[in-house]
Amino acid sequence: MDYYMIILRFVHVISFVIWAGWIFSLRLWIQPAVEAAGPAGGAFMGAVTSKTKVITTVAWAATLTIISGLLMMDHVSGHFDMGWVQSPQGTVLIIGGLSAIIGFSYGMLRVRPAATRMGALAGQIQQSGGQPTPEQGTELQNLRATIKKGGNIVFQFLVVTAVCMAIARYVH
Ligand code: HEM
Repeated sequence: MDYYMIILRFVHVISFVIWAGWIFSLRLWIQPAVEAAGPAGGAFMGAVTSKTKVITTVAWAATLTIISGLLMMDHVSGHFDMGWVQSPQGTVLIIGGLSAIIGFSYGMLRVRPAATRMGALAGQIQQSGGQPTPEQGTELQNLRATIKKGGNIVFQFLVVTAVCMAIARYVH
């Protein structure tokens, strides 16, 4: 038995379920519901980001997905042998892996700081009675727009990854 690959696949699958599960749920269901709910939706998202560990957990899950993916790729490709890299399966896995890495980098650089700031701001607003000042309201709106746009971009990269990873095994 190849224990090395068993462990890596285990880590890969558990961590991508958490990462992709969150991004897909956020984009497809949570975000539209938050928008439809108006101010209550904003308060809900503020609570999700400030009262739970979702941001940190998803960042760790994404990191583990990428590390385990790269280690598996190194293993199954015979240390990135050019024959494997140029094979249909290798090419599909590389496109999928790169797409995930680009999505991750974008999420960490653009979406995560905005989500962290939104959590802090929601905490401040709650402490001072629950009503945002006009400045806080404007900042919240801008943060929401950044998170929405960024989340959309990450989602699109992860769709490409999911398609590539799903079909790679049968592409010859
Ligand atoms: C959210 C992102 C990701 C998702 C949803 C995902 C999903 C999957 C799935 C479902 C498999 C199993 C495919 C099968 O057995 O037919 C797989 C395998 C694999 N993934 Fe990913 N993956 C992601 C990110 C990455 C990254 C970033 C890399 C590397 C840079 C990577 C490299 C690999 C490799 C090399 C395999 C094949 C392992 C083998 O041949 O046994 N993955 N991935």
